[in-house]
Amino acid sequence: METVQSIKETRELIKSWRRNGYTIGLVPTMGFLHEGHKSLIKKASAENDKVVVSIFVNPIQFGPNEDLTSYPRDLEKDKITCDNAGADLIFNPQVSEMYSDNAVTSVTVDEITEGLCGAKRPIHFRGVCTVVSKLFNIVTPDRAYFGEKDSQQLAVIKRMVSDLNFDIDIVGCPIIREEDGLAKSSRNIYLSDEERKAATVLNKSLNSAKDALQNGERYASKLAHVISEKIDNEPLAKIDYIEIVDSVDLKPVCEITSSILVAIAIYIGKTRLIDNFTWNFK
Ligand code: PAJ
Repeated sequence: METVQSIKETRELIKSWRRNGYTIGLVPTMGFLHEGHKSLIKKASAENDKVVVSIFVNPIQFGPNEDLTSYPRDLEKDKITCDNAGADLIFNPQVSEMYSDNAVTSVTVDEITEGLCGAKRPIHFRGVCTVVSKLFNIVTPDRAYFGEKDSQQLAVIKRMVSDLNFDIDIVGCPIIREEDGLAKSSRNIYLSDEERKAATVLNKSLNSAKDALQNGERYASKLAHVISEKIDNEPLAKIDYIEIVDSVDLKPVCEITSSILVAIAIYIGKTRLIDNFTWNFK
């Protein structure tokens, strides 16, 4: 496995793979890799001849008061994880390699970026869509792998790929969790021991909502109440949002008559964590 910082070198390698007729899978990440990322790389490795993992903490998707400077990094450990999971190349560019000072072009996806995480993070998805488009143009993968953990991001990327005719299959991958149900996240490292225990409330509250759906609940407001009750019982937790939306266009629903995404963002102390599940209406 190689680690490359330059776009030019990456393109040369990709060209040589293409000459051999290899298929290419891309796993975009910001590094500090855990089992969640690893599951994406393994899936990519099972479905493609060659796998590129990009590791790039993308400054333009962080808001002014977000954790860009403190975002955890560990490239040496990430290299081992990528190698073990079957990656062939790590693309690890510097910020200056990805963004020239005079760049004025960005990629904006409207509407489905306005709610959920987009409501409080107005520039976030423009940053994500711009960097992912650039990675798509540099790596030209056949398939790209994204986690369902970031459900809005996955929906936005699928929409961007469809709207802009990228010839790339977007593969969604299931959420990987800790034993106690907390979704794995690079940001879990910010939690104190006490907060770490409190953070299990995210998954527990979603499980209560699943039970309510199973028992026939069809009103989104009542479902949201089931979740908020659980969260309110955890003193360290503060609700950012609880959303029940259509699973494709992410528009809020009142009565549940189609497949829905139940998505939550919760502050545990100062750390904002997200979780979700999709419920298929039968
Ligand atoms: P990052 O947070 O590093 O996540 C990279 C990929 O791993 C995303 O597709 C994310 O959904 C997936 N992932 C994270 N935790 C997961 C878990 N517990 N189970 C399954 N998949 C998980 O998302 C980003 O980086 C960036 O926004 C990026 C797309 C790289 C653009 O900069």
